[in-house]
Amino acid sequence: MSEELKKLRDNHKDFSNDRLIEPTVSPFELFSTWFDEAVKNNELESNALCLSTVNSNGIPSSRIVYLKELVEESFVFYTNYASQKGEELSLNPIASMLFFWPKLQRQVRITGSVSKISEENSDAYFASRPRESQLGAWASYQSEILADRNELFSRITNLEQQFKDSVPRPPHWGGYALMPSELEFWQGQPSRLHDRLVYIKISDSWKVQRKNP
Ligand SMILES: Cc1cc2nc3c(=O)[nH]c(=O)nc-3n(C[C@H](O)[C@H](O)[C@H](O)COP(=O)(O)O)c2cc1C
Repeated sequence: MSEELKKLRDNHKDFSNDRLIEPTVSPFELFSTWFDEAVKNNELESNALCLSTVNSNGIPSSRIVYLKELVEESFVFYTNYASQKGEELSLNPIASMLFFWPKLQRQVRITGSVSKISEENSDAYFASRPRESQLGAWASYQSEILADRNELFSRITNLEQQFKDSVPRPPHWGGYALMPSELEFWQGQPSRLHDRLVYIKISDSWKVQRKNP
């Protein structure tokens, strides 16, 4: 354990308030602990995160997506590659993710580079989804203007005929993995003296520091 981490941990022990964040060597260990605690505490939609991307004019855009899994230190979500977020990620493959767990007064802010996951992994997850969701992935031209909802339903009717048995994964649907370069853990504290712990990736290790609230 580095001197820096030891100092941060000792500093943690100086306070009687047991809600101060105890730094771990890996931010993924801390994230997993917090995620499990969010689930145990019945946070509504624990796996929902706000994903922000930026377009070619530097204009940001945010929306909620579900975290599917944490794989080899990357955060995986699924979407339509041709959607607004997909277009923006193809031009600027950097994104921000934000988790908010209000019951625990916790926020996790993550920034990093995004890339498509393997076709095999997208195929495997798509195959595990309910048929209605699979047909929906074909029927929805996500983020494009829809003149009439009937257009969407008639596409579903046609797709039900086209794919009578199994539904293949549409080429425009799949997973992205965000590989973080920075993570910030925020723990609400009394008197607004909140605790913030920031991990920054330097070469292959993580530098961890506290920030003013
Ligand atoms: C709780 C919740 C979960 C969502 N999960 C996803 C998801 O996992 N993938 C996805 O593409 N859209 C998801 N959406 C819809 C997105 O917020 C968004 O409307 C859609 O992806 C289109 O975004 P875009 O036009 O910015 O690309 C979710 C919305 C909510 C409210």
